[in-house]
Amino acid sequence: MEQLNILKLDPDVKLNKHEIVRSPLFYVGDKYKLMPQLKELFPRNIRNYYDVFCGGGSASINVDAKAYYMNDIDSNIISLHSHLQKNSPEIEKFIERMYALIKGYGLSHSEISVDEKLEELKEEYKKTYFSKYNKESYLKLREDYNKDLKNIDLLYLLLIYGFNHMIRFNQKGKFNLPVGNLDWNKNVTESLINYSDWVNSHRAIFLHNMDFEAFVDSKNIKTNDFVYFDPPYLITFSDYNKLWNEKEEKRLYDLLDKLDAQGIKWGLSNMLNHKDKFNEILYTWASKYNIYSIKSNYISRFDNTIKTDSKEVYITNYEKGRT
Ligand SMILES: C[S@@+](CC[C@H](N)C(=O)[O-])C[C@H]1O[C@@H](n2cnc3c(N)ncnc32)[C@H](O)[C@@H]1O
Repeated sequence: MEQLNILKLDPDVKLNKHEIVRSPLFYVGDKYKLMPQLKELFPRNIRNYYDVFCGGGSASINVDAKAYYMNDIDSNIISLHSHLQKNSPEIEKFIERMYALIKGYGLSHSEISVDEKLEELKEEYKKTYFSKYNKESYLKLREDYNKDLKNIDLLYLLLIYGFNHMIRFNQKGKFNLPVGNLDWNKNVTESLINYSDWVNSHRAIFLHNMDFEAFVDSKNIKTNDFVYFDPPYLITFSDYNKLWNEKEEKRLYDLLDKLDAQGIKWGLSNMLNHKDKFNEILYTWASKYNIYSIKSNYISRFDNTIKTDSKEVYITNYEKGRT
């Protein structure tokens, strides 16, 4: 197999993490940690920015553009963005409502205080004390939400206290994630304020809930726009990977080739190898484009160890610094 030419970021580039904000959705597979590197590689002047697989929106909220088009096939994610955006002009009121719910349900709230019971559990259960403390209150919250699925305040709270900040519904449409080992700390409030600042300072943010190809085809994308693709990775595992397979992967690459032929700039995040897995379709297809190596410190959700055997890449059809 032909050797790929993988480019590296200039080591002198300052990767200033402090300029990057975290999305309040704390999404699995979010690009928060990688944004300092990706931002260096994104085009400079973006008119319309298309975040085709937006997930928690970490890529959108850290990019400068005139208008933002955020899309995801998961309607719950889009409902959460929509809800947070509607609440952004008065985010303090939303946060206060959340505080009242936390108190009402008797959930822990380490941003405000740590009570004796939590201290005791912390001694006894070093790694799982939040879940021990919150289990019953969380189940009550989950039950209430399942009776009132339109209540997005409750869904947001479930996301904060649920397992790994995930969203999962069973086949009957009921939210079914167990309690997580986390609670509402100062990062949650800070991320909500940052997100609302971003919303309040940008008038043109549009949300879409479509398949990626239908979404791209429905837009009149121009050459001074930029399209970012962060699809599920074929060779890694997360809940949303259930929707992804080789057919989807090829459908995506055909779309990227089509956009390239139209002179539309795009960037694609992906992984060439992960543990013993290797993405051969990506490897074969990508050689005609620019491939950048991204340092990722991929952390396994199963054993919390850092995986050094994963090769995260960013692929573009434009030259860095020329746009
Ligand atoms: C890697 S995640 C995106 C993470 C995001 N960039 C962030 O920073 O939070 C991939 C996303 O693709 C979405 N997705 C999966 N299949 C899709 C499809 N056919 N069309 C659009 N979105 C899809 C999933 O719901 C998931 O949110």
